[in-house]
Amino acid sequence: MKPVKDQATAMKILVLHGPNLNLLGTRESTIYGSFHLDKINQLLMEQAQTQDATVDIFQSNSEGALIDKIHQSKKDGCDGMLVNLAGYTHTSVALRDAILAVELPTVEIHLSNLSKREEFRQHSLISSACIGVIMGFKHQSYLLGLTALLQHLRQAP
Ligand code: DQA
Repeated sequence: MKPVKDQATAMKILVLHGPNLNLLGTRESTIYGSFHLDKINQLLMEQAQTQDATVDIFQSNSEGALIDKIHQSKKDGCDGMLVNLAGYTHTSVALRDAILAVELPTVEIHLSNLSKREEFRQHSLISSACIGVIMGFKHQSYLLGLTALLQHLRQAP
């Protein structure tokens, strides 16, 4: 998972949102915040522009569709991935395998702080396939994650 581009080159980042994140804004807003997914996506696009990057954003409630998108990201020339795999975080060996297979630097994102939640949420199958994890800052987790991923990609090898 080596950095692949220098400071001057625009980066292409895949942002993946897993199941039920299409309901953000109305879904358990004390835990996940009041921002709708469209708003988070808009903020990501704006921030990417200021950081000389582009984001390809994809949400699905289906494990297979998320896996197919990860495979496609490699073919599409993505440099890295920002992933909130939601409930699949805790169950999906197949999504973990897909991240490892494409060998793209990946940051795991969560709106909530999983360490403060139910025991079944405290284990992620995804984390150890990623370069890092950002959680607990609601929609800001995505924005912090984008900055961290871009810095990682641009750092000297
Ligand atoms: C989540 C945490 C998961 O446990 C949960 O299933 C989600 C959202 C988060 O962003 O905090 O859907 O990934």
